[in-house]
Order: sequence, then structure tokens, then C-alpha cells
Amino acid sequence: MLSREALAIQEAALAEVALAGDAETLAGVNRKYLGKDGPVGALHASIRDAAPEDRKRIGQEANELKVAIGTALLERKQALEELALEAERRAEGFDPTLPPARIRRGSLHPVTQVTRELEDIFGSMGYAILDGPEVELDYYNFEALNIPADHPAREMYDTFWCDSERHLLLRTHTSPVQIRALERMSPPFRAIVPGRCFRNETVDASHEHTFHQMEGLVVGEGVTVGHLIGTMKTFLREVFGRDLEVRLRPGYFPFVEPGFELDVRCPFCADGCSICKRTTWIELCPCGMVHPEVLRYGGVDPERFTGFAFGLGLSRLVMLRFGIDDIRHLLAADLRFLEQF
Ligand code: PHE
Repeated sequence: MLSREALAIQEAALAEVALAGDAETLAGVNRKYLGKDGPVGALHASIRDAAPEDRKRIGQEANELKVAIGTALLERKQALEELALEAERRAEGFDPTLPPARIRRGSLHPVTQVTRELEDIFGSMGYAILDGPEVELDYYNFEALNIPADHPAREMYDTFWCDSERHLLLRTHTSPVQIRALERMSPPFRAIVPGRCFRNETVDASHEHTFHQMEGLVVGEGVTVGHLIGTMKTFLREVFGRDLEVRLRPGYFPFVEPGFELDVRCPFCADGCSICKRTTWIELCPCGMVHPEVLRYGGVDPERFTGFAFGLGLSRLVMLRFGIDDIRHLLAADLRFLEQF
């Protein structure tokens, strides 16, 4: 409890604080009441001459006053600063009472959507999901895939080279990860590798310098073409929701033997449409049995193990899936296109 005198000082001080309209006035109030020559200081000084039994009470009172006035000063200072800020913002046209702009939710890129879907499907079939470098060594992209430097198959791949010695390149397919997987995992294993690939190609509606593939690799004892066909049929059933006929045509890639092109019966028509170019067949992916030389490069004994590999054109699959007619839309970063997914 404050004495009457102390209470009077406090009330007078608080009234002045409440009336102060700027920092300078507040500083004056501070000096007047809490300064050396102010009433609180005087109260403190009076302790010296007071009777011993009063000293403690007077000291407490002086402190209480100091805290009460100090707190009021600080609060008023903050309130004045907030008012000033608000006035400034209003002058700029800011209205704090307006509701906030609605936050619009984005969506996943169609390539990401299909990639995740395929990862789910193959993941449920026991496939590991692997990754590999986009800047790759010639060794992994070509050499160890049974494509030596002078091999004519190199002409299929219009390569972006990263150095003049031609050791480093932007991978032209996801197949180099076949070798990396063979080096690291011991058979039996199943793996898929979704990823970006690059080719120095003239860009048109069906060719991009940057596109997506998904490699598949299965290695074990007694793996056959039958397993390859069964796997592709299962995967197609998951994607399209029903059984689709497939067929194999011979295809050539140095890292598979035999090599195939796998076609699927057009899921969009019965007797020919623009998507299957009136043939009722759609080219789905190149594939084949892993060449023994490739297994050897990867440190796996081809006498004991066999395997199959496939190279799904992820970009193509995305286009099929969403009815996109120009591959260039995929990486154009055009919101008018992306907002549709
Ligand atoms: N990597 C090959 C390409 O992009 C495709 C492929 C993958 C073929 C796996 C056979 C087996 O041209």
C-alpha cells in the first residue's frame, strides 16, 4: 500500500504519461518524475533522515513508484510507435482490416504425378527406386553399356558433351544407372530409375533436348523374357485399369540381347485413332535381356545370373496419359498449361 503522498505522485505521473503524444514529451515526463531531482528521487533521499523504523517502508514505496511509472512510460512509448506505424501504412493505402488475399494451392507437375504413380506400382512389386547423376561419365553412359568409342550406336545418341576430352556428358538415357546398380547391389534385385535425360536434338512436337525416362532392371537366377512380358502386362493393367495386349518386335540396343520394342494395344480406340496413328498399336518401350557383357562390366557373373531391362519413355507416357500433343509443353514452365493439372 502506498502512502497518500506516494499515491499522489503516481497519479500525477500516470496522467501525464497518458497525455503525452510523442516520444519527446514522454522523455520529459521520465526526467520530471524519475530524474535525479524528481519526486521519486526525493523520496529515496528522504530515507537518510527518516526514523529507522520507517526506512524500509519508504524504500519499498520509492521502488514501487519507479516500477509503476517506468512501466507506464514504456507501454505508452510502444503504443505511440504502433500508432505511428499504422498511420504511415494508412498513408500508403494499407488497410489492416481487409481480409487477406486467398492463398492459392499449387499442384504437382504432370511428370511428377506419373513418376509417383509408377513408383507406387513398381514399389508394390518389390522394386527399389534408384537415382543416378545427370552429369555422367562416358564410361557409364556408353562404354560399360557395350557401346565403345567407335561404335555406330553412338550415333543414336546426340550427346551434349561437358568437356573437350569427352569424358563427361549429360546422360542420354537412364541406362547408365544399370551399371551403377549392378556395381552396388547384389542379385537378385529389382530396380527402377526415373530421371531426366538430355539429347542434342532439334526440338519439335515430339523431341525435346530434356526429357524423362524410367529405366527398369531385374537381375536374378533364371530371369527370362517371360518375366519381362509379365511385368509389363502387370504394369499396364495398373496404369490403364484393364488387361492390354502387348507384342514384341525385334529392336537393337548394344546392351540387350535379344533386344525388343514392346508395343501395347491402343487403349484409346478399337480400330485406329490419331494416337496410335491408325495402327491400333502404340510403341511403349524398348527393352530386352541384359547383355552378358553388361553384367560383366557391372561385376555380375553372367553364367549364373540373367536379367531384363526396359526403358520407359516417361515423357511419352505422360503425354499419352493426359492427352498432351506437344512435348515442349512439359518443360515450358507456362502456368496456363500447368494450372490444368
Ligand atoms: N536406354 C535406351 C534408350 O534410351 C532404351 C533401353 C533401355 C533399351 C533398356 C533397352 C533396355 O535408347
